[in-house]
Amino acid sequence: MPPLPRSIIAIATLAACACASQPSGRTTITIAGSAVGAEGEVLATQVARFERLVPAVHVVIQRTPDDGDQRHQLFVQWLNAHAGQPDVLQLDVIWTPEFAAAGWIRPLTRWRPDVSDFFPGVIAADRWAGALYALPWWTDVGMLYWRTDLLPRAPASMNELAADLRRVRGTAGAPRDGLVWQGARYEGLVTVFSEFLGAFGGRIMDDSGNVVVDAPAAIAALGFMSNLVRAGLVPRDAMTWHEEEARLAFQHGDAVMMRNWPYAYTLMNDSSTSRIAGRFAVAAMPAGPGGAPTASLGGQQLAINARTAHPDAAYRLIAYLTAPAQMLERARVAGTFPPRRSLYDTPALDSALAIPSASARAVLERATPRPVTPIYSQLSGLLQIQLHRALTGQVSPADALHDAARAMNALVERTHVRELIAGRADSAA
Ligand code: GLC
Repeated sequence: MPPLPRSIIAIATLAACACASQPSGRTTITIAGSAVGAEGEVLATQVARFERLVPAVHVVIQRTPDDGDQRHQLFVQWLNAHAGQPDVLQLDVIWTPEFAAAGWIRPLTRWRPDVSDFFPGVIAADRWAGALYALPWWTDVGMLYWRTDLLPRAPASMNELAADLRRVRGTAGAPRDGLVWQGARYEGLVTVFSEFLGAFGGRIMDDSGNVVVDAPAAIAALGFMSNLVRAGLVPRDAMTWHEEEARLAFQHGDAVMMRNWPYAYTLMNDSSTSRIAGRFAVAAMPAGPGGAPTASLGGQQLAINARTAHPDAAYRLIAYLTAPAQMLERARVAGTFPPRRSLYDTPALDSALAIPSASARAVLERATPRPVTPIYSQLSGLLQIQLHRALTGQVSPADALHDAARAMNALVERTHVRELIAGRADSAA
């Protein structure tokens, strides 16, 4: 992972200092998170409403980098330094075990949150050693966006996907690019790869905690991705792209298909900024030989800094932001999927989400988590390097994945994480 630019650290540190100056008689807490698409806008609205509802608490929003790996690095630096702020942290679904095992976030046990409504797979990722450490804020699933004016239907297989791209690109006036995705060397690339991996029947880790990312199915999956790049069906530029670069290209009419999260839907359907409003649809990434359609399960959680001076105020904010009304509003404004099951049975969600709920459900059913382990970020870092090397043509998919698996398994051994996970299961029993 590249070191965090100094400017980001400086801005973030300044922001942290600013929150120390509290308006008299009020408790000031900070919440740190991302502001991709309309996320920042809806958070500001909800925080302002929370402050009116709970006047004793003043909330400072601390914006952090949109690139999840950079946010992770920033949080690790703060929490390692025992900072008491930010009080509330936006955690990627893959980070909770790591932060809990490190003692950086507080168990939520004393507030006894009712978690029965959350999707079981999501809430499971918020537990560590039998205790609950975070509440789900929104759920992400990786989706295939496709142009309805260029294709009659979503591709039903990986081979069809490649054939569709080839055919459309051969027609006059076709978009510049075929499929665009998150190809930069960061977590987004692992989520894209995971979908191809599932499509070909592979996995990153088996049930015993062994890394199996160099099995033949995985090599076939990475080989397929790499062929798409080599054939020009995925632009080489996309090997430096994150979520927003891919969205802007697709929304500009420059691509036939895009892999991205739900947030992009609402923004791309706004005809004042998007050239393809009303001319695209979503589907799950299709299956390849030997696998099933797969959608990476992503999403964001809210947790409390273990060293906060204001845990009750922090929890109040979390409870407010994760309540059904705020989730519905977030779905309407930012297009994010609520992690509460009951909302999917209400017409309110149908009218809040721009995306047809049948399409949303079809992708949600394919949601597949990444490995739940406290060393996930390190494992992913090792995998990212090799995926990127293979997709930029520096090394073959087989060599890349053998190197990745070797390094990842060595890390698993070194950190004794299998024993830790077994211990966690014992203490949860
Ligand atoms: C989104 C997802 C998150 C994932 C990240 C990768 O933010 O919510 O789970 O890790 O994208 O870029």
